[in-house]
Amino acid sequence: MELSIVIPTFNEKENVRAIVRRIEQALASVPCEYEIWFIDDSRDDTPDALAALAADNARVHFVHREHERGLGTAVVEGFRRSRGRFIVVMDADLQHPPELLPTILQRLRDGIDVVIPSRFVPGGSDGGLNAFRKLVSWTARKIGQLAIRRLRSISDCTGGYFGLHREVIRDARLNPIGWKILMEVLVHGHYETVHEIPYAFQARDAGESKMSLREQWNYLKHIGRLLWSSPEDRRFYVFCMVGALGVVVNLVMMSICLYLLHIRTVAWASILSSCVAMIHNFLWNDRVTWGKQHAHPVKWRRALQMPTFILVSSVGIAITALVAHVFHLLHWHALVGQCLGIIIATAWSFTANNRFTWGTQSDNREQVKRTIRVTHE
Ligand code: GDD
Ligand code: MN
Repeated sequence: MELSIVIPTFNEKENVRAIVRRIEQALASVPCEYEIWFIDDSRDDTPDALAALAADNARVHFVHREHERGLGTAVVEGFRRSRGRFIVVMDADLQHPPELLPTILQRLRDGIDVVIPSRFVPGGSDGGLNAFRKLVSWTARKIGQLAIRRLRSISDCTGGYFGLHREVIRDARLNPIGWKILMEVLVHGHYETVHEIPYAFQARDAGESKMSLREQWNYLKHIGRLLWSSPEDRRFYVFCMVGALGVVVNLVMMSICLYLLHIRTVAWASILSSCVAMIHNFLWNDRVTWGKQHAHPVKWRRALQMPTFILVSSVGIAITALVAHVFHLLHWHALVGQCLGIIIATAWSFTANNRFTWGTQSDNREQVKRTIRVTHE
């Protein structure tokens, strides 16, 4: 079997016959052995429609889940049941045009690991959504891309139309909450190349969308879980948390210096507090953020880790001061400049520490290997 088409359905009785017909038309001229798997959670008589389809078409298979619901888990069920070397996931309601299937199949045959029809590359459009849904969809996508590095270079990471080699998900722990199974695949799958094909998201003719406030909440929960299970992103958030804790330590130390130790020179009290905070941050980052496996095995290199951290932090302080000063010179608000400076300095110190303080040769090699190439038509 070359291709399995996996289609989740929830109350789609008006659409299932049409989508099978359109898929068969689209693939009529392409020599390809394929199957269609419907994973159905419907509460109406869609299962009867599916049973009738399966009875007179050997390509069509379906499973009805009596007590379960969820688009993401339905697709995972489809991955498990289907047999094709390639898998394409699409919606049942014809908003994802089946006419794209030959191109998706061709790109998979060309050796691309993940093929994503995209609404957001030149030539694509999301015209099938109303203005409000467009805004919600845009916000959701930006949140996902801001939070998870792997999603940044992918223009349509929240869509429900995509193709992949079965190898991509072999041994991948897929445990989606809610709808965004593609994000789950992109974070946990094994792949190196992604190719995007522009398409116009169609309007729905029959039935209605099942998107709800609950699914939007699920989306946020899903992002949280993806963050936590993706080491490269989690490290950055832990680093920020340590930094925030460091500010508290700094302020407490400053109070101790001023009110308990009665240090008169404020500058000295401030420098002392910052040094204590810096050592505090180093220890947490060394033990937790990067952890034991990033301690240098060579003794003298290990001894250099704290000084390197302090050097990196000092450059961060200089960057912040510079940005604040430039704001001041331009007669903009210095506090806004300080905030921007802190953001830039955080990005700098995370990257620099990851590379110089706790980085190892093998990490850098891993990094190169993990780089994903994204192309589009
Ligand atoms: N099995 C199962 N279980 N299927 C479901 C469930 C469920 O709980 N909920 C929805 N589906 C099916 C629908 O029957 C449809 O085939 C597909 O999942 C998408 O649901 P729609 O209700 O049509 O969603 P939409 O059109 O608002 O949004 C879709 O398209 C967007 C653009 O690609 C979704 O795929 C979005 O994730 C996507 O961003
Ligand atoms: Mn739809």
